[in-house]
Amino acid sequence: MLSYQHIYHAGNFADVQKHAILVKLLKTLGAKPAGFQVLDTHAGRGLYDLSSEEASRNREYDLGAGLFLNDEDKVLSDYSAILRKFNPDGELKVYPGSAMMARELMRPSDKLVCIERHPGEFIELQKAMGTAANTQLLQEDGFKALVDMVPFAGRRGLVVVDPSYEIKSEYRDLAKYLAQAWKKWPQGTFLIWYPMLEAQGHRQLLTALRRTDVKDVLVSELRLHEPPKEQFRMYGSGIIIINPPWPPAVVETLTQYIASKLPVKAFADVFWLDNQKIDPETGSIQL
Ligand SMILES: C[S@@+](CC[C@H](N)C(=O)[O-])C[C@H]1O[C@@H](n2cnc3c(N)ncnc32)[C@H](O)[C@@H]1O
Repeated sequence: MLSYQHIYHAGNFADVQKHAILVKLLKTLGAKPAGFQVLDTHAGRGLYDLSSEEASRNREYDLGAGLFLNDEDKVLSDYSAILRKFNPDGELKVYPGSAMMARELMRPSDKLVCIERHPGEFIELQKAMGTAANTQLLQEDGFKALVDMVPFAGRRGLVVVDPSYEIKSEYRDLAKYLAQAWKKWPQGTFLIWYPMLEAQGHRQLLTALRRTDVKDVLVSELRLHEPPKEQFRMYGSGIIIINPPWPPAVVETLTQYIASKLPVKAFADVFWLDNQKIDPETGSIQL
């Protein structure tokens, strides 16, 4: 049985990067009248109680969403507005996850499909999301859904892939599933998150993805100079966007802004995976 629970990390710097980019993608999709779909393959519990024992243990949101709740700058204004809607008295008490962020920016004519495999997390997701005609919650394998459920009927929308990477082979396997999904829907937009840890599993993901036919792969990395101990040696956070709807400068501005607001030294890197070379000696991507 898998044991990862996102509530221990809810609202940390990685969530800010991930959800700020998610919000930007949703805003772009919602700018046109045609309906769209979001498939959230690893949905978590939708809404995280930051006063819970789990979230309070390391208060990871202090180095994350807590810094942006009352932020007025336009770079993250749509993201911060959602935080404020859920925390109207100016104190960060709950954190809306990917499913809830999507729900907030979707219209009745849009469709949200959330997958969560963990039984306990799935019950919490059901409680948080309730029933809505345009929302489907499924307790199944998100990787299988990633391949099986694309392309969407209307060919408009976004696939969000935010695994827990508890099983080490998930880094490499994910590249394979993405290549299969892309083959079925080469124009689809996919948002994928990965952690940057000492073990460097993310390099396997990037290398394996670079070796596939998948094109137009933009990467945003946010790296901390010194990782806080409580973040499980997570020294950085990466986002892959396949078929981004805007030029890299949009993601650069956003990633640099988050890095500049963190109270620790942090760096932002944005690059096309398509331009990265595989080192012939190590067989790994040169970054
Ligand atoms: C990083 S968390 C997701 C956080 C969520 N996207 C958010 O932003 O609030 C990863 C989630 O994936 C779930 N999970 C792990 N393996 C899965 C699988 N094969 N299929 C679907 N969900 C899975 C875990 O239970 C966990 O809730």
